[in-house]
Amino acid sequence: MTPRPGFKVGPITVDPPLLLAPMEDVSSLPMRVIAKRIAGPGLMFTEFVSAMAIHHGAEKTFRKMRIHPEERPLGIQIFGGVPEIMAETAQHCEAAGADLIDINMGCWVPKVCRTGSGAALLKDPEVATAIVAAVVKAVRVPVTVKVRAGFEYGAFAAPDLVQRFQDVGAQMITLHARFAKQGFEGQADWDLIKQMRKVVSVPLIGNGDVKSGEDAIRMLNETGCDGVMAGRAAISNPWLLQSIRCAITGEPETAKPTLDERLEVVMEHARMMVAYRSDSDTLAEAKELPTFAECERRAITSLRGQLPLYVKGVFGASEYRARLSRVNTLAELQVVMDEVRATARDHETLTTGA
Ligand SMILES: Cc1cc2nc3c(=O)[nH]c(=O)nc-3n(C[C@H](O)[C@H](O)[C@H](O)COP(=O)(O)O)c2cc1C
Repeated sequence: MTPRPGFKVGPITVDPPLLLAPMEDVSSLPMRVIAKRIAGPGLMFTEFVSAMAIHHGAEKTFRKMRIHPEERPLGIQIFGGVPEIMAETAQHCEAAGADLIDINMGCWVPKVCRTGSGAALLKDPEVATAIVAAVVKAVRVPVTVKVRAGFEYGAFAAPDLVQRFQDVGAQMITLHARFAKQGFEGQADWDLIKQMRKVVSVPLIGNGDVKSGEDAIRMLNETGCDGVMAGRAAISNPWLLQSIRCAITGEPETAKPTLDERLEVVMEHARMMVAYRSDSDTLAEAKELPTFAECERRAITSLRGQLPLYVKGVFGASEYRARLSRVNTLAELQVVMDEVRATARDHETLTTGA
């Protein structure tokens, strides 16, 4: 298979042309470092960062901007509805070391849209363009925009909007090929990406429902996009992201991870999350400093939704799903992982007679 070339966004090389999607409560630093080590995507993004929260000095939000040297190039994604405040936040992101700043115009959640942020901007070309222009002016790093096709179902606003964004200096456009009103319903319509190709002269990234290497190649071939962004398929599954990478680069597929490797990555993710959540500057918000045990509990509970996905498909693991949704500590998690391993081994011994 012909390897797909990378591309440039200003001074940044995105190679391979595979991007890990920004995902609130998921694509935090520990997840990204693991994804980078195992799958090596060409570009990753933080969870979205509220410009208003940064403006008000929320320490917890500043934590989202933290970057590990291994994970570059990294985009910090910001959201907000006020050009000056978005520009100010972009400067904080640049100071934090962002390789690029991505502006969110895709979040459909009412809490975000009500503030005139996220996908609400798709309905307001003037403010949306003013935001991109203000952010471009405020920083030296490239500025990119992630959009949905439009707000109301069928109202394909993105082509007009992104031309305006390019005119004021946006250097890459990502299209999640759904309308905001759809949320995550229905199938992403890749034909919309193909239509965007006609108007986007900067790198265009296709996004929506890429779940395998075959999907990624099909999206590249059918739409003419420069790169593919994967989100949900990569949650608790860096190996799937790796297999998408192999399809794109033409490298031979690496062997599937063993159960031990998978379980070790679960523990590594959990340990890194505890370290990440225990960092002192996040504690400044607390009137009384939380104990390490409290930080550990917060870190592990924040991962509860992702833990069962790590062991999906492992024999017997479904029995442990309920317990994984109740774990509070690393030690409790280790006990469940050991039991998952033992159950799978017993099954293997029975079926192979080994
Ligand atoms: C849990 C979750 C959190 C998300 N958070 C963000 C976000 O912070 N910023 C953003 O632009 N998109 C966010 N998205 C949307 C994804 O970036 C992506 O556009 C969407 O999931 C479609 O891609 P997929 O089909 O590969 O998952 C989120 C999606 C999920 C599932």
